[in-house]
Amino acid sequence: MKLLQSPFKKTLCIAALAAISCFASAQVSIFPKPVETTMPQTAGTLVINSKTLISADAALKNSGQFFSDYLKKYYGFGVSMGKKTGSAPAIDISVDKSKVTHTDGYTLLIDKGGVHISGNSPAGAFYGIQSLIQLLPVPDSASLASGRKPAADAGVSVPYISINDYPRFAYRGMHLDVGRHFFTIPEVKKYIDYIALHKMNRFHWHLTEDQGWRIEIKKYPKLTQVGAYRNGTIIGHFPGTGNDNTRSGGFYTQQQVKEIVAYAADRYITVVPEIEMPGHASAAIAAYPELSCFPNENTKRPRGTVWSGDTTGKQVQQTWGVFPDVFCPSEKTFSFLQDVLDEILPLFPSKYIHIGGDECPKDNWKRSEFCQQLIKEKGLKDEHGLQSYFIQRIEKYLNSKGRSIIGWDEILEGGLAPNATVMSWRGEQGGIAAAKENHDVIMTPSSYAYLDYSQSRVEDSLTIGGFLPLQKVYSYNPVPPALAGEPEKHVLGAQGNLWTEYIASMRKLEYQLFPRMTALSEAVWSPASKDWDNFQDRLRTQFLRYQLWGASASRAVYDPRSNGPAPQRQGGTQ
Ligand code: ACM
Repeated sequence: MKLLQSPFKKTLCIAALAAISCFASAQVSIFPKPVETTMPQTAGTLVINSKTLISADAALKNSGQFFSDYLKKYYGFGVSMGKKTGSAPAIDISVDKSKVTHTDGYTLLIDKGGVHISGNSPAGAFYGIQSLIQLLPVPDSASLASGRKPAADAGVSVPYISINDYPRFAYRGMHLDVGRHFFTIPEVKKYIDYIALHKMNRFHWHLTEDQGWRIEIKKYPKLTQVGAYRNGTIIGHFPGTGNDNTRSGGFYTQQQVKEIVAYAADRYITVVPEIEMPGHASAAIAAYPELSCFPNENTKRPRGTVWSGDTTGKQVQQTWGVFPDVFCPSEKTFSFLQDVLDEILPLFPSKYIHIGGDECPKDNWKRSEFCQQLIKEKGLKDEHGLQSYFIQRIEKYLNSKGRSIIGWDEILEGGLAPNATVMSWRGEQGGIAAAKENHDVIMTPSSYAYLDYSQSRVEDSLTIGGFLPLQKVYSYNPVPPALAGEPEKHVLGAQGNLWTEYIASMRKLEYQLFPRMTALSEAVWSPASKDWDNFQDRLRTQFLRYQLWGASASRAVYDPRSNGPAPQRQGGTQ
């Protein structure tokens, strides 16, 4: 019987294992949906308990460890690594390129002999483990509420099954803005675990912003002494109804960054750091005013924003938006940025360094004599040409160090840097234009991939606004019709973005993330065909998994009002 994720209605409870009867699972619900799932003619289940051994080469031990840690955390018992002896079932994990030919693909077979995972690569084997995790029975709501765990020797049962699976795209990303609100190292690790559990493989770490510089740079200690903290934050929607008058912030030491990069690498996730330039630079300028074209001017405060503390000189921003005080394209700034990048590169093995490039107002460059002279001297057309000059200089520097840049789609304006990859966020047009110019592209259009948007028309928490329901995320195809054919190969994949102006806690972060991230994982991994009913069927189990993980999630998809007409705004604060 061959089927694509059809419900496996047989209960996994076995009378003899009464201790785990509450851990019944109704169906196979794997996210992202595998390419091919086959159930055997004769259904059966395999017990995994504390005596089960995982057999894996040294290079795959992290996958085995991830599985054991997951079992321990959520089911109360772990399994050990060791060589299989006798006929007792075991879990064997291997890499076999001759058997599994798709890049980072895997096969997973569960039969009476045990669990057999073969990867095309160590990453592929890890993805096999993720599918195995999703075959574990998920406790029902009542059991979850009681906190009951199965007995270690009774263990849990997984169904006999055969899966053949591989990703559609090489770049499967999730972004996190730690500038608007700071997230701690354990929180960032939790976020990385969510990425891993969805077979995604890039963590775009947005490390610098107007409201906070978040990474230690030893040569410029004021970046974190000054730039990592703000004296207050607006209350409510921009421009705010007041200010919380609370100093807040934080930063990651280089040691902590190394810890995060290693943690992610253990999960086959590459961390792509973003150091924003030339805009979104208020925090860096607060630390080093000479990076501005107008070092002696006070930081501009948007009309209507209530400010906390000192209003003179350069300040870290306390409100949201786009600010005119950007990096001046001076030699001083380029030396500074190269020094910063010199400390960034050894921390991040990623081929890509994201250099921002978005939302850079040109007001200060227009009124700066220095900038106008530079435009003339370099034969540039205008301030957009100056931005292009800026990005190209940084690209050249990073290329000389063996790295490549990613920039937001504004880097198209004034001329694209020769080797740049474009992250298309203002719709797909930037991505389409870049791919047609033979540049690689990562799709992250706000209309499908901005997970800070509201997911309900009757959202009762504060969000940035917009409306991005689950079904729309689920419907996303990262290759737009305009790129069918040759340019399609330039679409490396897609990414979900989580901007945190209105996300100040892990609980809120998860609420914005789930279940939409689960839908996005299918857009980047699964075949392009869609089946919304099937997705919704599987989603019921996924909601129990969120509960198992202790993660909050929005239930808007179950609220008929959530897709209703847009409510009339009362008073209009945004
Ligand atoms: C962006 O949302 N400004 C890339």
